[in-house]
Amino acid sequence: INSLIIAIDGHSSCGKSTVAKDLARLLKIAYIDTGAMYRAVTLYSLQNNLIADGSIDEESLKSSLDDIDIRFRTNLGKGTNETWLNGENVENEIRTLEVSNNVSQVSALGFVRKRLVELQQIMGEKGGVVLDGRDIGTVVFPNADLKIFMTASPEIRAQRRYDEMKAKGENPSFDEVLKNVKDRDLMDSTRKESPLKQADDAVVLDNSNLDQKQQLDWILDKLTEMG
Ligand code: C5P
Repeated sequence: INSLIIAIDGHSSCGKSTVAKDLARLLKIAYIDTGAMYRAVTLYSLQNNLIADGSIDEESLKSSLDDIDIRFRTNLGKGTNETWLNGENVENEIRTLEVSNNVSQVSALGFVRKRLVELQQIMGEKGGVVLDGRDIGTVVFPNADLKIFMTASPEIRAQRRYDEMKAKGENPSFDEVLKNVKDRDLMDSTRKESPLKQADDAVVLDNSNLDQKQQLDWILDKLTEMG
């Protein structure tokens, strides 16, 4: 069971990373947060003024791709998973509303996706890994052993993200967060490059009314059914 590739795809803020981390800890496998990688490229673009007034300087970003080094430092025992961008821990910076508001545009760029998908494939090819994202079961690992498509209502997802941001000392308005969730749903599922969609062989997990443990048990049941 600990050499499997497990793909978790789904909408924004539906708790993919929470359940993926739980699973990684329990099965002692690696966890790769692919959304964090798109967020890191977005943060880099903002820091280097490659995004101005919501529009991206695509040529400059393309030629900067080689200068963007993304790594994870995971301590599943402690439950921490840090994203590092060019030698700096940016785990908090990549979760701000500013990054959230720009990430869908950056992740719609074919050359960005190509690079990050390659990296994800290298990180996960040996198995023993759970990845969460939008296109893991459809593009990154179409042969994944288990594909889960997670979802929950936009309001529930916005509330979760709002609580998370509050806990980190940010002060967003709920409506703003809800709008961001809905906007990203629309952009992620209608973009040309690898739109968010359920893989044919994915199992759907709607966690609107499930707590953390129920979700984990649900996935463990699926793994047991697989034998
Ligand atoms: O998962 P998270 O919400 O942090 O992802 C941030 C954004 O990155 C998503 O809204 C989506 O635009 C993009 N993304 C993607 N493909 C992935 C993971 C994330 O396009 N595999």
